[in-house]
Amino acid sequence: MPRFRPDIAALSPYKVGRQLADVAREHGLDPSEIVKLTANEGPEGPFPGVVEAVSGVLANSNRYPDNACWDLGHAMAAELDVEFSNLMFGAGSVALLVEIATALGGTGTNIVYGWPSFIMYRFVAIWSGSRYVEVPLDDTHRLDLDALRAAIDDETTVVVVCNPNNPTGTIHPADEIEAFIDSVPESVLVVVDEAYHEFVTDSSYRSEVSIAVERPNVVVLRTFSKIYALAAHRIGYAIGRADLMTELRKAQAPLTVSQVGQTAALASLGQPAELERRRSENTARRHHLVGALGERGLPMAQSHTNFVYFELGDEVGSIVEDMTSRGVIIRPMGGRWARVTIGNDEENRRFLEALDFARAGR
Ligand SMILES: Cc1ncc(COP(=O)(O)O)c(C=O)c1O
Repeated sequence: MPRFRPDIAALSPYKVGRQLADVAREHGLDPSEIVKLTANEGPEGPFPGVVEAVSGVLANSNRYPDNACWDLGHAMAAELDVEFSNLMFGAGSVALLVEIATALGGTGTNIVYGWPSFIMYRFVAIWSGSRYVEVPLDDTHRLDLDALRAAIDDETTVVVVCNPNNPTGTIHPADEIEAFIDSVPESVLVVVDEAYHEFVTDSSYRSEVSIAVERPNVVVLRTFSKIYALAAHRIGYAIGRADLMTELRKAQAPLTVSQVGQTAALASLGQPAELERRRSENTARRHHLVGALGERGLPMAQSHTNFVYFELGDEVGSIVEDMTSRGVIIRPMGGRWARVTIGNDEENRRFLEALDFARAGR
């Protein structure tokens, strides 16, 4: 065997949520009958016009994509009221996290974030050779910003604030995030991961884009994978000061953002009514699911997103397995908790039916 890095050799590969085809095979189910609520994807396809726009791109598949993401970048800059130079695109926001950790991590450094939060923060820290520091959430399943601040030490180069937080769906008001940013030394990069930003309707919440373009050490991450329903095409973006983006680009592999992804993202922009429809449908469905879980006496975190984190107890693993055998896949999160993505009305009905089936008689 070649000599692998010991910290990489000790890893188990990242496990994506149960895949539809695997569950269909294991349980002898028809894939079209399976409800997959594991990955916080949108329940509908892409925005109007996207499929048509993308089909034109496929004929040019022999050409590399536009490395500058020029058309998309200029459209996004206008939409966000920032400069083109404030933006950097990635093959999903996970790729941007890898690039951030590559640029700022390494032996003798650490990356700080809340826990539970997005599992990829741990992976990117390990891949980059950094230590990771996981700071427990508070009693209400929100990030503990004071404890995060206290965990930053001389070796910290990156602190990640996931707002809203995955898997809990909880948020922090903008004034609390901004006070946190103010308290972090400029030598530490604050990454504000806003993957679920578009779902939030609470008036205390605000994106940190305008702060990120001013400060030398703040970057906001966003994605087209969630409300824009483009998860398959791997496109996310970072917003920050132009000089910071220039440094981060040094750790980016070229030509990694596909032309299909760029074109699909561009075609999704400028459709505020569609965005609002998806947001408000998600909010109504979340209220319904939260109400139904509450009626069943199941404790939950207060979600502002397209998923709900709820407590199933010691038998979470076997309950989720029983639900899977009925063709409904949700995600056990470790401990006594699970996370369900909000689906369409029929998927949510199937979720509650499978949940009741699996919990009956326990
Ligand atoms: C908090 C958070 N950040 C980033 C991502 C990754 O998104 P992308 O598909 O853009 O890599 C996810 C996806 O689940 C997420 O939950």
